[in-house]
Amino acid sequence: MATFPIKRLRRLRYNPVVRDMVRETQLNKEDLIYPLFVVPGEKIKKEIASMPGVYQMSIDVLVEECKELEQLGLPAVILFGIPEHKDEKGSDAYNPEGIIQRAVRAIKKEVKNLLVITDICLCEYTSHGHCGLLDGEKILNDETVELLAREALTHVQAGADMVAPSDMMDGRVAAIRKILDENGFVEIPIMSYAVKYASGFYGPFRDAAESAPAFGDRRSHQMDVANALEALREAETDIEEGADIIMVKPAGAYLDIIWRVKEKFGMPTAAYQVSGEYSMIKAAGKNGWLDEQRVMLESLIAIKRAGADMILTYFAKDIARLLK
Ligand code: PBG
Repeated sequence: MATFPIKRLRRLRYNPVVRDMVRETQLNKEDLIYPLFVVPGEKIKKEIASMPGVYQMSIDVLVEECKELEQLGLPAVILFGIPEHKDEKGSDAYNPEGIIQRAVRAIKKEVKNLLVITDICLCEYTSHGHCGLLDGEKILNDETVELLAREALTHVQAGADMVAPSDMMDGRVAAIRKILDENGFVEIPIMSYAVKYASGFYGPFRDAAESAPAFGDRRSHQMDVANALEALREAETDIEEGADIIMVKPAGAYLDIIWRVKEKFGMPTAAYQVSGEYSMIKAAGKNGWLDEQRVMLESLIAIKRAGADMILTYFAKDIARLLK
């Protein structure tokens, strides 16, 4: 007589109703944050060549887009700005009349139920494309932090609901917390890009944000992709400095890091499925090499399963339509 297994894990897989009941991870559109790129001008909606379905938009188009996102039930956007003028000091980043400050005011005036988060960095605003002030080829830390704090303050004064520093300078979370508090914005949360790797997956973003560095790379401030323990020190530092939400970026190739950060700190944890992750799935889908929709869902569920409470993703709108 053959012996049969008593334990049969397949028992819960035959019936789709049962499969639904035992599913451990749910992807909800409420978990998603949609990145948007704002450019000067009017009536501009320009597709980014390396990111099909993602556009640079002028403020008027952006406001209409935000109304649509609100209709679709998406909860939040994160804004990236491409200024009219770039200079060595990234002046437009902290100009109260800068592109993001104007965009935030315009959205807030017309769209009531959409959380507006702004990315805090200088790389889109500097003529050299680096994330801070330069001394020769070196990025100055403390001088840059001062400007980042001013950038954050002007965004919040314009109406931003949350700020997300992505620059990876040391001490910027503390500086942003301080300037916000001193100006009466004690209730505005900081979502810190606490663990941000020096990743090749940002390639398409630099087309979208026109922020590729003119020389060198970002390895003097973003993390070495080989390090995990250092990620915990980065997260810990930002938590001590007052970060309310901790982000890991990129997401798909760093699921172990999301898991570790979540396990160790139990903080609200965000993950950024970055441009390159999006473009790879899109490209393979367009070529018929992968089932795009299926892989999109799988990639996002994996990020949630790893411990992310919220995901920044260029697929947010597709998901919202799908789950509607
Ligand atoms: C910096 C910033 C970058 C991204 C988000 N914020 C680019 C970089 O660090 O070079 C990348 C996002 C993506 O690739 O989708 N402002």
